[in-house]
Amino acid sequence: MRVLSGIQPSGSLHIGNFFGMMKSMIGWQEKSELFCFIVNLHALTTVSDGPLLAANTLEAAMDFLALGLDPEKSYFWVQGDVPEHAELTWILHNHTSMGLLERSHSYKDKIAKNLTPNHGLFAYPVLMAADILLYQANLVPVGRDQKQHLEIARDIAGSFNHVYGETFVLPEAGIDEELATIPGLDGQKMSKSYGNAIDIFLEKDELKRRVMAIVTDAKAVSDVKDPETCNIFGIYKLFVDDQAQSELRERYLKPGLKYSEVKKELVEIIWDYFAPYRDKRRYLAKNPDQVRQIMAAGAHKARAVAIVTMDAVREKVGLIY
Ligand code: ADP
Ligand code: TRP
Repeated sequence: MRVLSGIQPSGSLHIGNFFGMMKSMIGWQEKSELFCFIVNLHALTTVSDGPLLAANTLEAAMDFLALGLDPEKSYFWVQGDVPEHAELTWILHNHTSMGLLERSHSYKDKIAKNLTPNHGLFAYPVLMAADILLYQANLVPVGRDQKQHLEIARDIAGSFNHVYGETFVLPEAGIDEELATIPGLDGQKMSKSYGNAIDIFLEKDELKRRVMAIVTDAKAVSDVKDPETCNIFGIYKLFVDDQAQSELRERYLKPGLKYSEVKKELVEIIWDYFAPYRDKRRYLAKNPDQVRQIMAAGAHKARAVAIVTMDAVREKVGLIY
């Protein structure tokens, strides 16, 4: 089975990204054929700062490699390094109705936020369909917000298949309804844009500052406390096994627990959890050319798969004469 997903190169990653997406994504490399790529072409629809996009792309690659994505066990590349993504997009434009794109929630949301729409933003779902169909992916694990994009991809694949005969696999969206939303410092969904995130690869001082800023209620040390509504507990439990979770829960339910103590423990737990990854991340940061080489090899490997689909498509639509 082919599992495929694209990742936005949008700056440093936080523990919400890690537990919400990266960990399970990386897990797929053990169970199936994993296709994972950094969507720098999609990023062009909203980023117009070249050096920033280039830096974010390299950082995203380093983050995934450091956290265990293994280019030997998977296909891992940068979207823009495989020109077939753009080529197939153009062909698929001709099998995409305007109405389909006009109904796209993400497009409508951006318009509602008064972003001046460019054509790239409008065509975003077609590029995403090309990403998926190019590799004949069966399963696409995405967040709930991407569900409609998957429906659009299936729709485009269906129209193309209808005209030219069976060409593309119809992909399924893999939306994990169970997946918890990881809370941030203030208990809202952890998100870069809310300023409530704990990044994975912080220096220790900054990690301490972030953890100390977790918002708690005003209960006194002598009060019993509610772990289930506590923002510290919500983050702590991600890092420990069931037994350690119940031990901590017990401490909440007895008088005497100091939030500041639990926060200090949490700093050490997060620090230790990411220690092996941090060493690898530092190594990669010092060796960007090695990362570029890994990504170039990944693009080469992915391209060999993409070309098989493209050859069939080019033949069917009449580009081979
Ligand atoms: P942000 O909200 O920080 O901009 P993104 O939207 O770039 O994060 O998310 C990238 C991926 O990480 C998505 O697959 C999303 O589902 C996952 N993710 C981000 N934040 C969380 C969170 N707080 N809890 C669970 N998953 C998350
Ligand atoms: N649109 C997706 C997001 O914002 C990223 C993406 C691009 C993607 N191409 C993809 C996801 C192909 C899955 C499959 O998260």
